[in-house]
Amino acid sequence: MDIDALAVMVKAVAYAALLQAVGIALFLALFGARLEVSTAAVRRLGIVLSGVGLLTVLASYGLEAGRMSGEFAGVMDNAMHRRLAHLPLAAATSLRVLGSALLITAFVWTAREAKVLGVIGAALVTESFLLVGHSVSHEPRWAIVSLLQLHLLVAAFWIGSIAPLILVARREPAAVVHQVVMRFSALATVLVPAMAVAGLVMAWLLTSGRYSIRDPYTAALTGKVALLVVALSLAALNRARLGPALLEGAASAVRRFSLSLAVELIVLLGIVVVTAAMTSLFSPPMASMSGARVAGIRAIVSLPVSPRPVMVLGRTHSTVSAWTS
Ligand code: HEM
Repeated sequence: MDIDALAVMVKAVAYAALLQAVGIALFLALFGARLEVSTAAVRRLGIVLSGVGLLTVLASYGLEAGRMSGEFAGVMDNAMHRRLAHLPLAAATSLRVLGSALLITAFVWTAREAKVLGVIGAALVTESFLLVGHSVSHEPRWAIVSLLQLHLLVAAFWIGSIAPLILVARREPAAVVHQVVMRFSALATVLVPAMAVAGLVMAWLLTSGRYSIRDPYTAALTGKVALLVVALSLAALNRARLGPALLEGAASAVRRFSLSLAVELIVLLGIVVVTAAMTSLFSPPMASMSGARVAGIRAIVSLPVSPRPVMVLGRTHSTVSAWTS
């Protein structure tokens, strides 16, 4: 298998596991006090996802050394690892590892303070995304970084709440299920549109409004928006029909609700896979390539398409071959 394809797959698993672990910590902080019998199962899920996140984040970091050298042997190359250690990806990986470790501790520890630890772990993991990537290399940086922070927190809360909601629906008494689902839906109705708007504004700032379906970066963004429309339709169905029916406690209502949530989760995981590919392999299109100004870098001196991706500010780009300050 090509090292780029493997790196994207591992990164997608890392993103999916970490975002869900962050979302579970936020879910427990917001709804934990209302739960009667499902808390232990939600915590166990959090431990598994944080553990998978921690391991795949480390694997993803190792694979970047291979991508820099262009072959699998690079994964074991000390010289590549020394270079990688000076890039922002190393700091981002450290934050992700520390954040995942705090999340695991918060899910294992049953004391009240564990919620605070979970929220700190969640903040560290989301903060790590602000150290690398296009948000670092595009202006206005403060706006893109703020939008990305909002985008990530809400995306994590949404995707990380789905499996716990299924567990709650299957285990809790009908009145608790109804209360948690209605409260979650009310919050999501405000937060999810804000996340989508943040994503769209960020996309506009990163591309300066340039759009072409033939450009891989903007095509991937289009894919994300299309999948989001599908996920939102399922969420609207849950809110309008399936959620209220849970109050009666009928097994068929719980089954339909769980199935709809499972499909919503698969669609959101699809968005995460597209995001991992988009941010690993493609860059936002640029207007005038030579002389474009980006943070900390004054000019692009040559722009032939590189046969191998090169490392720019901790993120690999296949379209930019040389930069100077
Ligand atoms: C309207 C829908 C959406 C739009 C327009 C959108 C747009 C964006 C943009 C422009 C970025 C910055 C990418 C970059 O650095 O090049 C981003 C990052 C991200 N998005 Fe979205 N997004 C949307 C929905 C979602 C959803 C639903 C999820 C998750 C379930 C998600 C997960 C992420 C993640 C994890 C990142 C960080 C990627 C990284 O820094 O490596 N997005 N999004």
